Amino acid sequence: MTLIGWIDAIRDHGGIYFVDLRDREGLTQVVFDPTSSHFPSERLQALKPESVLEVTGEAVLRTAETVNPNLATGEVEVVARAFVLHNVAATLPFPLREDQAERVSEDLRLTHRYLDLRRPKNLERLRERHKVCKTVRDYLDAEGFIEIETPTLFKSTPEGAREFLVPSRHQPGTFYALIQSPQQYKQMLMVAGVERYYALARCYRDEDLRADRQPEFTQIDLEMSFINRETIYALIEGLLQAVWKAVLGIELPLPFLRMPYQEAMNRYGVDRPDTRFGYELEDCSDLFKRSGFQVFTKAVAAGGHVKALNLKGLSDLTQGELKAFEAVAQQLGAKGLAFIKAEQGAWKSPMLKFLSASEQTALKERLRIEDGDLIFFAADKWEQTCAILGRIRLEGAKLLTQRNKLQLPEDLYHFLWVTEFPLVVKEDDRFVTAHHPFTAPVPEDTDKLDTEPQSVPGQHYDIVLNGVELGGGSIRIHQPELQRKVFEKVLRIPEAIVEDRFGYMLKALSYGAPPHGGIAIGLDRLCAILTGAQSIRDVIAFPKAQKGQDLMSASPAKVTPQQLKEVFIRPALGIEER
Ligand code: AMO
Ligand code: AMP
Repeated sequence: MTLIGWIDAIRDHGGIYFVDLRDREGLTQVVFDPTSSHFPSERLQALKPESVLEVTGEAVLRTAETVNPNLATGEVEVVARAFVLHNVAATLPFPLREDQAERVSEDLRLTHRYLDLRRPKNLERLRERHKVCKTVRDYLDAEGFIEIETPTLFKSTPEGAREFLVPSRHQPGTFYALIQSPQQYKQMLMVAGVERYYALARCYRDEDLRADRQPEFTQIDLEMSFINRETIYALIEGLLQAVWKAVLGIELPLPFLRMPYQEAMNRYGVDRPDTRFGYELEDCSDLFKRSGFQVFTKAVAAGGHVKALNLKGLSDLTQGELKAFEAVAQQLGAKGLAFIKAEQGAWKSPMLKFLSASEQTALKERLRIEDGDLIFFAADKWEQTCAILGRIRLEGAKLLTQRNKLQLPEDLYHFLWVTEFPLVVKEDDRFVTAHHPFTAPVPEDTDKLDTEPQSVPGQHYDIVLNGVELGGGSIRIHQPELQRKVFEKVLRIPEAIVEDRFGYMLKALSYGAPPHGGIAIGLDRLCAILTGAQSIRDVIAFPKAQKGQDLMSASPAKVTPQQLKEVFIRPALGIEER
């Protein structure tokens, strides 16, 4: 038989060489006996890890004491009769053994990503990603969807993220923008009568990177005509159920839970709550209406809220940990972070001296305070109190996990639909969309758009898994008059700009656009959760590093003055000096 692959490891056992040969299926042990005339020892000494080796020999059963139960091929080995060394690998920049590679800096691994990907764990992640894509395609195909490619060279869209611009050579001074999502194209496909579209769509957003954000990423993007929100919920629940079954062999219970946005914020302080654990926020505004603690009383009098979070069992937190919590709150704009520690029947708290006995009793009841508890308070505008304590809740959960007071099994999957988002939110005296401007308001409240747009819910839904926003979508506006009203009256975009940016869309809607809606699921985020990866970088073949660079090819890179001239761009001032 002939085997070909990479040398995973070499062991010299007193002149007899054992080589683990690796290919995409796994490892096979090959034995080279230099006492046999085929292999002068200089030739064997040339074997280096990660070199490409072709071996011809016989597969033989291993003796009972040499069987390796950890290997799929552990019961056999190949006794080499001849070999060809196709490529001798240079000394590696880092070890590929799983336990050692994980400790190497990510930048070094990304610079040599083709080596990093040789690790079986990483190849397995690519394989699982493929399995997800295949399951998605099969499922949507069976549901009557067709896969359609739409352009990635588009124009500026209002979806919120900063865009990548591409200069046009044919039209001096004009630019394409790389697509943030196929939103407008997929809506045009509905006007075109496609009825059921999907794509595994590459999207581009020039955002600051995080563990769950890349400048280019992939969406499972779909759109349907003649449907309502329930159609999308059922479709996506079935899709995710199929994926969990195919990849993890787990049967997800359906339907998923649903929670209105307002409730998610009030209970968890965030619109993508991790509902795997409790530790919910409590509103205590009513208890502080007339209190000796002026900071809180004033906040309530000004229309704000006082919210509290009981991190049960965390009264043993250190001074350093407390400081870290305060820093987190401060980053989110908190003016302070009052707390109570309950220990040995007494409370320690900077606010204790301001609280009457009856207020203490009321707090104790409301927050179910017992010895060992740590309670944090935020007094501010409603959104602020939610945001601050929502983050504190997650930080607290990390500490509780470290102290073994909170245990989350790895295979716990809490899916949640977050619904009833407001259509628009106020930002610096004007309204901006909570999702995107194509989301339809709920029909019952559409007439309130003129008078109180902030109280009109949108037909927008997010699918959340273990505190991660997996995807989001909405039922769209399909009447041109309503779409124009949202642009001009609610979002106050000047008519000329509406015409310039969306004129074609308003026109398309006027030619018999069907009612339609859809959703996009972040494929990278989905795969990261399925494979237990810490970051979406781990499930992307060639991800970008922290500052958006491809470290392997060293991009982005400079271009020649001639190239710039061709697209009518003069290097910006200041670049040469840097
Ligand atoms: P949205 O902007 O919510 O909706 O994006 C949908 C999903 O895409 C994923 N995602 C990202 N993944 C990795 N890196 C990023 N930078 C990134 N940004 C977004 C998230 C997110 O939930 N056109 C609408 C969808 C619709 O209305 O149908 C849209 O793009 O998982
Ligand atoms: P002060 O009287 O300003 O020293 O505040 C007393 C305690 O209340 C301190 O622990 C502050 O961190 C806390 N505190 C002050 N302002 C707020 C606020 N807006 N929300 C929560 N806690 C606060």
